[in-house]
Amino acid sequence: MNQHIHCKSTPREIAPGVQWLGDCLAQHANGKIYHTYNAAYLVIGEEASLLVETGHPKDYPLLARQLEKVLKGQPPLRYLFVTHQETPHSGGLGRILEDFDDVILCGDMSDYHLAFPQFSHRMSALALGDTIDLGNRLFRVVEPVIRDLRTTWWGFDEKERVLFPGDGFAYSHYHEDGHCGLFAEEAVSLNIPEVSAVFADRALFWTKFTQMDLYADRLEKLVHELDVRAIGPAHGLPVIDPKTTFPKIKAGLIYGSSVPESGTETGPTRDKSST
Ligand SMILES: [Fe+2]
Ligand SMILES: [Fe+2]
Ligand SMILES: [Zn+2]
Ligand SMILES: [Zn+2]
Repeated sequence: MNQHIHCKSTPREIAPGVQWLGDCLAQHANGKIYHTYNAAYLVIGEEASLLVETGHPKDYPLLARQLEKVLKGQPPLRYLFVTHQETPHSGGLGRILEDFDDVILCGDMSDYHLAFPQFSHRMSALALGDTIDLGNRLFRVVEPVIRDLRTTWWGFDEKERVLFPGDGFAYSHYHEDGHCGLFAEEAVSLNIPEVSAVFADRALFWTKFTQMDLYADRLEKLVHELDVRAIGPAHGLPVIDPKTTFPKIKAGLIYGSSVPESGTETGPTRDKSST
């Protein structure tokens, strides 16, 4: 049922030298079409570019076209940082390593060498505080407050103070309201607690069995300590005004984890545009 309606929204710059890439995946729940991003982000330094995440495996042809477009005239792609091993984040990495000969895979490297032994010499294990120099632009590995896997790391662009939190800040958006390609601040009809609950059902189920306010407080502390100016999540809409939007997302996280599972599917929504 994941038929795709193309949303011509990305690439979009979320901060100078930071491009939002990737696409949405449609899901049906509560009689509505919900979309979730499986985003990737390109961080462009003066000497090298770094890709955060690879998007969903199905999106690689689109991602490859977007990369070609945004890398034109820019320093070459040299690094791929993936927050964790789940497919919406890392599902394109074999194809990236194949298509870009100079790219080094970075992050927690658990098990990738088993899937891609031919690329094991192009993997670099990073941990908290490690940095990658992109040329007058440092990319730092920071605390992964919302760890979907034990191996999760988050990234931070020190130049424009952009946080890349992987599965943190994960919430769906309403395709029918035209939210695709919008920043969180622009999607005015988005009910963040509701869409956080929908996403928690699908992909962050463990949050329902933990005391989420502790995670939310820690997340607030991280955003404050790093003086985060923009947020590039894998699944949520990018945040360009954390001061205004963070409290809403914090409330959404706590609400999403507090409601019981709504079930797998409430049945397909009738799609007016197709048969
Ligand atoms: Fe995940
Ligand atoms: Fe995810
Ligand atoms: Zn759309
Ligand atoms: Zn969308």
